[in-house]
Amino acid sequence: MVKKKNGWRSVQWFGREDIYGFIYRSWVKNRGVPQDQFDGRPVIGICNTWSELTPCNTHFRVLADHVRHGILEAGGFPLEFPVMSLGETLLRPTAMLYRNLASMDVEESIRGNPLDGVVLLAGCDKTTPATLMGAASVDLPTLLVSGGPMLSGKYRGGDIGSGTNVWSMSEDLRAGKIGLEEFHEAESCMHRSHGHCMVMGTASTMAAMVEALGVGLPGNAAYPAVDARRNVLARMAGRRIVDMVKEKLSLSRILTKAAFENAIRANAAIGGSTNAVIHLIALARRIGVELGLDDWDRCGEGVHTLLNLMPSGKYLMEDFCYAGGLPAVLRELGENNLLHRDALTVNGKTIWENNQDAPCWNRDVIHSFKAPLKENTGIKVLRGNLSPSGAIIKPSAATPKLLRHKGRAVVFESIEDFHKRIDDPQLDIDESCVMVLKNCGPKGYPGMAEVGNMPLPPKLLKKGISDMVRVSDARMSGTAYGTVVLHVSPEAAAGGVLALVQNGDQIELDVPQRKLELLVSDAILAQRRTQWVEPKAPLERGYWKLYFDHVLQAHEGADLDFLVGKSGAFVPRDNH
Ligand code: FES
Repeated sequence: MVKKKNGWRSVQWFGREDIYGFIYRSWVKNRGVPQDQFDGRPVIGICNTWSELTPCNTHFRVLADHVRHGILEAGGFPLEFPVMSLGETLLRPTAMLYRNLASMDVEESIRGNPLDGVVLLAGCDKTTPATLMGAASVDLPTLLVSGGPMLSGKYRGGDIGSGTNVWSMSEDLRAGKIGLEEFHEAESCMHRSHGHCMVMGTASTMAAMVEALGVGLPGNAAYPAVDARRNVLARMAGRRIVDMVKEKLSLSRILTKAAFENAIRANAAIGGSTNAVIHLIALARRIGVELGLDDWDRCGEGVHTLLNLMPSGKYLMEDFCYAGGLPAVLRELGENNLLHRDALTVNGKTIWENNQDAPCWNRDVIHSFKAPLKENTGIKVLRGNLSPSGAIIKPSAATPKLLRHKGRAVVFESIEDFHKRIDDPQLDIDESCVMVLKNCGPKGYPGMAEVGNMPLPPKLLKKGISDMVRVSDARMSGTAYGTVVLHVSPEAAAGGVLALVQNGDQIELDVPQRKLELLVSDAILAQRRTQWVEPKAPLERGYWKLYFDHVLQAHEGADLDFLVGKSGAFVPRDNH
């Protein structure tokens, strides 16, 4: 018998005793679902970003089965569904172009279907923000299970990290220090198990953000993808989401301003990816929390990098797991008054209840707050005439002596211009110059590609130069490093001052003063602006056109303007 009065939204589909009830139930029964599954129990969606085009998420069918077991054990009714997946390594021109599209898929798939709660399965970089953003705009009880990092890369007796060593090895190849055979061998040794990148890149960062925000269970960030505890976590998530539905513990009760501030501080403590800045701002704006760049600077101030993980340090995610994982970091933050201890999490406990007794088993991997890896390394927000709406830098990945620097601009008008000229021995550049890359922002690329950490010219690499100041409207892979100023806003393609920089201009970077200045007079800039031509949409139809016409700037999270906010879970009409 259907219990109609329990208040779950799925009863509006499966609890009906009319033609609609027949339609809603009968087709679901076609795979062997018995009548008693429609008795009013919570219906839980398992939102799966599995795809062979997303190598980091290829174990998600197994993970989904563990979630399914948990849901069944708790008396829920699981319904798994696919959504658009975003693979960082294959998708062109950049997975970020499609983050908002995938979020629309997630949002409408959840809202339009008879679901009372959702477990999101995400791993590769953009799959986490995309699923969370979509779910936030519906605001059902929601829990995210991350896919977990790969095992450590092992190459010729040492560790190699996803991405991070790709950058260093490709520089070595370009500088003639290694050959192609060694390069190919390293490819096979770097990614040797299921899971996402195993440095503190964007995927690991976002999995940590999930745990710090309280939308994932304790331990979510670090268990390797192939560790049995990852499957246990998925199963426990399946059990827990059923109770979350009964407790009406919706996403907006978890994703509060306090939760975001906890996540920002956790990001500083783990040496997390700059991409988290954009994703968390976009997510906050979906759920109705005011969060901006200044919150990142304010909350990150005084937070030290505790994690000795690539790209800021030397270890990998597997080491992080064995050392205690994110709970050990959150405990350090809490003990140093850098955590809103009463922020609620998906398991119904506060973040402090979850983490106050967390052990640390290796202080070389997870440093204490009193003896950090690097001091005061929260993401810094830079303003000035070159970035009136803000730009960011990750000091933990930068060269300290370059954080105050004035140099001559060497300008690349596009990524193609950069590739054409960077290897030219005649390029007029030395290590004191500031490399400037334009037209790689949200509209310009389009999709704000991870190209801000421009490789250095070979002639300087051969001299042993390993870092220079770089400025762009692009993003940077979370696996990358260097003194790289990113997310300059407004971007060049939106008419930002970045568009007006010319070769030979002086640029001043002063991170302690939070300054990024183009030392060119307003009068000259006004003159240059008369010559600037606004770019056209790269495609005149389809999603690219929609994206180009509606994408917001980096400091606003690069969401589409009409997606900001939420519409809730209500659907007014039946479908026949
Ligand atoms: Fe998927 Fe790095 S490529 S997480």
